Amino acid sequence: MKFQMLWLTLVLLAIEATSTAQGKNTTIPALIVFGDSIMDTGNNNNLSTPLKCNFPPYGKDFPGGSATGRFSDGRVPSDIIAEKLGLAKTLPAYMNPNLKPKDLLKGVTFASGGTGYDPLTAQIMSVISVWDQLTYFKKYISTIKKHFGEEKAKDIVENSLFLVVSSSNDLAHTYLSRANRYDRTSYANFLADSAVKFVRELHKLGARKIGVFSAVPVGCVPLQRTVFGGFLTRGCNQPLNTMAKQFNSKLSPALDSLDKELDGVIFYIDIYDTLFDMIQHPKKYGFEVANKGCCGLGTLEISYLCNSLNPFTCSNSSAYIFWDSYHPTERAYQVIVDNLLEKYLSKVY
Ligand SMILES: *[C@@H]1O[C@H](CO)[C@@H](O)[C@H](O)[C@H]1NC(C)=O
Ligand SMILES: *[C@@H]1O[C@H](CO)[C@@H](O)[C@H](O)[C@H]1NC(C)=O
Ligand SMILES: *[C@@H]1O[C@H](CO)[C@@H](O)[C@H](O)[C@H]1NC(C)=O
Repeated sequence: MKFQMLWLTLVLLAIEATSTAQGKNTTIPALIVFGDSIMDTGNNNNLSTPLKCNFPPYGKDFPGGSATGRFSDGRVPSDIIAEKLGLAKTLPAYMNPNLKPKDLLKGVTFASGGTGYDPLTAQIMSVISVWDQLTYFKKYISTIKKHFGEEKAKDIVENSLFLVVSSSNDLAHTYLSRANRYDRTSYANFLADSAVKFVRELHKLGARKIGVFSAVPVGCVPLQRTVFGGFLTRGCNQPLNTMAKQFNSKLSPALDSLDKELDGVIFYIDIYDTLFDMIQHPKKYGFEVANKGCCGLGTLEISYLCNSLNPFTCSNSSAYIFWDSYHPTERAYQVIVDNLLEKYLSKVY
């Protein structure tokens, strides 16, 4: 036993020595996130928006069972990824009024549930647009400079991992208000162009390790099935999935070009295929239910409709891919991150 421990220590030391010898600084000081509900850890809590979730049963599987404003039963990908990077078990929401300057050092999320790349999306939902999130990021850097100095701020901006996840709300909701100006393809292209513009802005502010998530198969979330999938069949909304794929097929090569053009590492993170496969074959991943959420009846409930007065909420959310009618469970998020993200995270070490 002792011998094995010693051997393991030696191997770890050797790995550490190798990465130092290559001159690569493998330390990622912080994780900084922009986007929507997938990565929001409570930024909507003090907004007057219909898209809130800082009440039970949201958070029922979160440490302490507290409803923090995460759109899930437990932790969300910003937390899970922060843990994988060895930073913290949870990533704070920038808008949390209780944050002290030192709580900012391992990173924060600016993400706001309901937002999108299209400025109209945030406006309709009364939430924080991704563009305003960039303004808050500038404030964040000023605070770090003020309390910890220029060097620390520079280290955080240059070496942190930046993640961006958005587009579902634009595709699923705002498009309906935009259909007079865009057809599906041109709207998907407009969103992909907006994502690229966002990355350029982030890069101008000094970010050098930037990952952008693909759109998800948003046509297969329980709410879309209920509204567009047929009364009994509750199939996926195929035109919406096609639009999501169109966005992805424009975004992926655009990010590759950006990666060649700009210094740093800019990469596309495909979660469409993994989530789609999970939804088609839930048993393969240890899930029982893929077409309904755990909260309430699981067909329509989201935000205020998913509440503690609703008596139908399931007892075992781990058996479900979806927590409410729109958002995955912590367990589904964990499976996605485990299956996929390590491949991408290796790009930034
Ligand atoms: C490596 O990263 C650490 C922590 O982020 C930082 O303090 C240090 O200055 C960096 N070293 C080099 C050689 O860049
Ligand atoms: C936001 O916070 C302020 C001060 O803490 C409080 O007075 C206000 O009611 C809150 N607004 C919302 C919408 O929660
Ligand atoms: C919850 O569901 C998961 C997945 O089906 C299963 O592995 C687990 O045993 C269940 N837990 C309980 C307490 O029933």
